[in-house]
Amino acid sequence: MSDSNGHRRHLAEGDPDIASLIHSEVERQEQGLELIASENFVSRAVLEAMGSELTNKYAEGYPRRRYYGGCEWVDKIEQLAIDRALELFGADHANVQPHAGSQANLAAYLAVMNPGETLMGMTLSHGGHLTHGSPVSASGRLFNAVQYGVNEDTGLIDLDVVRDIAERERPKVIVAGGSAYPRKIDFAGFADVARAVDAVLMVDMAHFAGLVAGGVYPSPVPHAALITSTTHKTLRGPRGGFILCREELAKAVDKQVFPGMQGGPLEHVIAAKAVGFHEALQPAFKEYVAQVVRNAVAMSEALIERGYTLVSGGTDSHLLLVDLRPQELTGKAAEEALGQAGIHVNKNTIPGDPQSPFVTSGLRIGTPSLTTRGMGVTEMVRVAEFIDAILRAMDDSTIERVERDVRALAADFPLYLEPASAQ
Ligand SMILES: Cc1ncc(COP(=O)(O)O)c(C=O)c1O
Repeated sequence: MSDSNGHRRHLAEGDPDIASLIHSEVERQEQGLELIASENFVSRAVLEAMGSELTNKYAEGYPRRRYYGGCEWVDKIEQLAIDRALELFGADHANVQPHAGSQANLAAYLAVMNPGETLMGMTLSHGGHLTHGSPVSASGRLFNAVQYGVNEDTGLIDLDVVRDIAERERPKVIVAGGSAYPRKIDFAGFADVARAVDAVLMVDMAHFAGLVAGGVYPSPVPHAALITSTTHKTLRGPRGGFILCREELAKAVDKQVFPGMQGGPLEHVIAAKAVGFHEALQPAFKEYVAQVVRNAVAMSEALIERGYTLVSGGTDSHLLLVDLRPQELTGKAAEEALGQAGIHVNKNTIPGDPQSPFVTSGLRIGTPSLTTRGMGVTEMVRVAEFIDAILRAMDDSTIERVERDVRALAADFPLYLEPASAQ
């Protein structure tokens, strides 16, 4: 990756401006502590596949059914990606072409409902995602979006409330899954609700797909007809999306991805998805995701010991949500102060948040990236100490002191700036 080991030599010569900006970003990733729950660090193998000559190829259509010639090699690559996704998750059918999670979601909705029909998802401010029916997303504009939330006292999804809303609104699709829900979701319970109102259950597993793949989070596959995901969060593949579904929806899903939603597939990214799936099939990945969860639990406990309040009281996934109201801090102020010390988290609304989404009263913290660097429970406790020191003091001298500690810790767990042979 680094200039020193010869990577990106052509870019450095051809476009030094972009080369130098990329190098600065790699240094930022290397020297800081990445706690954004939706991010991860991919392997060099994934990077190489993504940066390959496959980007040159047009391949509209699907393996062996293309609208362009010369697809014999990309057919094999895309088929491998599909086969590996199916081996990993055990579904009937996989479409690996969605450019990202948002496109996967829209294509999946359109496979089973028409614009104007009712979509029921978890509200953004309670941990859902924009694409689950938020009015600012196409999902909220194309469909009649109704939303459920969590119980504001417990921070948990209450399936009785979900059932009441579903019975009243009779949605065509119910979405389970979200971006800031720290607990396991009862997919069988959601499937019961969907069955009772004749809705299609769709699970958006973008956040916890890696945990499902590694067996530390329940699989939605037995319960949901449609499953969407990203490949770049806990699954640790390239930035992208994919859809799994039951056989009876396979044709409709494929049609809605192409030609419904997209044109030519990004075969370089699909190759990188295949590499990511292959890595997730290895025994080491099971150990990785188990450590991700152990680290999140350790971080939760360390923060609770230091007097912090967590939405739902903790976590059983890769992320935690800190309620900063008792500290009289906003998520925005906390995110900025921690960022100055190289600790990267994101401000996040909490259920019943009195602040706007730009300010918020919460912080979302995730452990996938630090775990990829090889950090364990001991380091999580140290990071919790760093976070606590800054949030208690909120002053420049503490931020400077912690920044030195952050750099030293990060240097002990090198990422990309090592010689290529070291990773
Ligand atoms: C649950 C969920 N679904 C979908 C998406 C959208 O993915 P993308 O950013 O790749 O469009 C995200 C991204 O944060 C997400 O958290």
